[in-house]
Amino acid sequence: MEAEEVIICRCEDVTLKDILKVIAEGGTTVNEVKRFSRAGMGLCQGKICCRLISQVVAARTGRSLARIEPPTSRPPVRPIPIGIMADLTE
Ligand code: FES
Repeated sequence: MEAEEVIICRCEDVTLKDILKVIAEGGTTVNEVKRFSRAGMGLCQGKICCRLISQVVAARTGRSLARIEPPTSRPPVRPIPIGIMADLTE
């Protein structure tokens, strides 16, 4: 196995090679890598992989890890019964 075949995002099966491709095509932020590779969009919502993605982005863009912005966080939305919303108005 080549180093670039290492899986960075286990939830979405995104490899280091996939992430490097996004960066080579102009991606400079974790959000851009996320958007174009789906890394960080899996079940864990990036809890496992976003730190690794940040490290790759920092190394490839020549910035320190402290200057890499964390990805936009969107907690999962779950449907709730309408009755709960109705109770909120009373
Ligand atoms: S490991 Fe990347 S979203 Fe879960």
